[in-house]
Amino acid sequence: MELRIVPGAVPTRAEKHASTGKSIAPLAPGFSPERFTDVAKTEKWFRRNCNDVMKRECSAAEKADVLSWLMTLKP
Ligand code: HEM
Repeated sequence: MELRIVPGAVPTRAEKHASTGKSIAPLAPGFSPERFTDVAKTEKWFRRNCNDVMKRECSAAEKADVLSWLMTLKP
């Protein structure tokens, strides 16, 4: 499957929700220390977003891949 990336969108700076305009803090924990600290919230969003993007839940290995990449991003 093809993943479409929003041009210029990176997980290291705040972005805006496309339809509501609400500000969204960076996803990378190096830039938003509160990210991935709440297990219930993290699992909820992985479930929702993986299903949206891939029509299935992500495996534990896929979640670990995303998280290990995000953790390489440092200010
Ligand atoms: C496979 C692709 C994606 C993965 C793995 C993913 C993963 C995540 C995770 C883990 C969180 C929770 C972060 C936390 O614990 O604070 C999250 C939050 C969020 N994601 Fe994604 N996501 C994906 C794609 C998307 C897409 C395509 C959209 C919108 C078009 C999106 C919109 C959001 C929003 C609005 C939040 C909540 C932001 C907030 O808490 O401030 N995600 N995502």
